Amino acid sequence: MSIKHFLQFNDLSGDEINYIFERAAWIKSQFKGYKKYWPLEDRTLVMIFEKASTRTRLSFEAGMHQLGGAAIYLNTRDSQLGRGEPVEDAAQVISRMSDLVMIRTYEQSIIERFAANSRVPVINGLTNEYHPCQILADIFTYIEHRGSIKGKTVTWIGDSNNMCNTWLQAAEVLDFNMHVSTPPGYEVEPERANLYGTDHFEEFKDPMDAAKGADLVTTDVWTSMGFEAENEERRKDFADWQVDADMMKVAKPDALFMHCLPAHRGEEVSADVIDGPNSVVWQEAENRLHVQKALMEYLLLGKVK
Ligand code: CP
Ligand code: NVA
Repeated sequence: MSIKHFLQFNDLSGDEINYIFERAAWIKSQFKGYKKYWPLEDRTLVMIFEKASTRTRLSFEAGMHQLGGAAIYLNTRDSQLGRGEPVEDAAQVISRMSDLVMIRTYEQSIIERFAANSRVPVINGLTNEYHPCQILADIFTYIEHRGSIKGKTVTWIGDSNNMCNTWLQAAEVLDFNMHVSTPPGYEVEPERANLYGTDHFEEFKDPMDAAKGADLVTTDVWTSMGFEAENEERRKDFADWQVDADMMKVAKPDALFMHCLPAHRGEEVSADVIDGPNSVVWQEAENRLHVQKALMEYLLLGKVK
């Protein structure tokens, strides 16, 4: 049987993603009703972190326990991973002792090399290029608040980073439109985003134009993990790419605001927007737990209904 990994958003079809959303809603309702659901009893998830995390670690670790399994945390500092053991060797060993692996690392090629040598499914918990679990949670949150995302307009303001690339892939898989505005020099690279074409996104020089009529406005930090050396330069380059109340005014009146967090109020988003009535950032963060439980169930057990 071939192993199913989740290394990029488009590793799964629209049907599979919609199935995961249905399961996430059911798993969430069980959790909210304090009902035990242990389909992954005796299964072990290994979580490998080469970059910092609060939400990803917590949601995977808590999620695996809540499904009846166990989760083991490894990081670069206190494992052999930081001492030059080849990724291929690590994959051979780790995947012989576990049922599922989640990795947060730098280049996408690292997670691909791991997956190619793994006997168990591998999940991308963020790379320089993609953050597919976050976009699963974001779209699930959109659906909970507003219904289907098909045909809707999502505006991305800021850096064409891992979040932006993954939104662009999701637009192709689930058939919605992306409006993107980045500062000059930080434009989308369709090849890096691994897109089929440019049908589902439009680029705007002026962020206000990108936000016009949006159903959802979203952004992320100006400097992602691993790019800290560019921090000062980016602060200047991104100064006009803040999501503020004026920008939300040109979006649809019921437009949602999302941010994967952690956020920097006064940089990529103003405090009145992230803490305002259109913001669903806390629901978005919580939904990491529910969608990832559905994802782990799907990768290990397939369709259970
Ligand atoms: N949004 C997100 O992935 O958060 P962490 O970096 O805290 O895991
Ligand atoms: N783009 C950010 C997301 C953090 C969750 C980063 O890669 O640092």
